[in-house]
Amino acid sequence: MLKIDKLVKAYQFRRETVPVLHNISLEVPRGKIFGFLGANGAGKTTTIKVIVDLLFADSGTIMIDNLPHSSIKAKRLIGFMPEQPQFYHHLSAREVLLFVGELFELDPKTVETKAKNLLRQVGLADAENTVVRRFSKGMHQRLAFAVALMNDPKLLIMDEPLDGLDPLGRLDFKRLFLEQKKLGTTIFLSSHILSDVEEICDEVAIINKGQIVKQGTPQKLRGTYPTLEEYFVSTVQKQ
Ligand SMILES: Nc1ncnc2c1ncn2[C@@H]1O[C@H](COP(=O)(O)OP(=O)(O)OP(=O)(O)O)[C@@H](O)[C@H]1O
Ligand SMILES: [Mg+2]
Repeated sequence: MLKIDKLVKAYQFRRETVPVLHNISLEVPRGKIFGFLGANGAGKTTTIKVIVDLLFADSGTIMIDNLPHSSIKAKRLIGFMPEQPQFYHHLSAREVLLFVGELFELDPKTVETKAKNLLRQVGLADAENTVVRRFSKGMHQRLAFAVALMNDPKLLIMDEPLDGLDPLGRLDFKRLFLEQKKLGTTIFLSSHILSDVEEICDEVAIINKGQIVKQGTPQKLRGTYPTLEEYFVSTVQKQ
């Protein structure tokens, strides 16, 4: 569903070139939940921003459902939840979703019902008419997830979607991820909460200092380590 081939990216910062991604190659199988793991600064957000075309790569190719990732057709297939979701603060949760529906040129007749259903699913039914300015961190995350689902994506890309959620919220989100998977959606997510990753991901890749160092099922990578977290810490420390 998502194929990244030899991705290279450097930032230009104060006339310096800072290499961040070195030849990243990855394949995310259709219909799976794929976890993208790495320490702070490893290059997860940079990779994700390149996938969704918010940043340009220096070289390499990315295909989404066999379409070039920067094509409009490919973008219509993606639902995206960024690391730090931002909304127009004066809009209510419902208005945010209607706005996103317009951007995706969804049928105006169904968009109201869709927004209502999604707000219920993410636990924001009571906040439907609350302006975003009054939202807590967890409410922002919930709204961002609803936004990402608004266009019925085939590929859901989420940068630390469980960040800032209380235990109940995390449970809700994990249940919703599994529901999406049942519908056939492919999910690519980054997370630092490795117990959750281990629970829901079919496959994971570890990025370290801009390079993919491991890829496989959580069980296979973990091997004899008691948890994925312990395996992750030992792998990243060794590099
Ligand atoms: N706009 C920028 N200009 C220069 N360097 C940047 C820029 N954005 C990120 N970097 C650098 O690129 C590297 C990778 O950053 P990135 O945000 O992709 O990491 P990450 O894996 O998402 O980390 P985290 O877990 O903290 O979110 C870091 O060294 C960071 O300092
Ligand atoms: Mg990040």
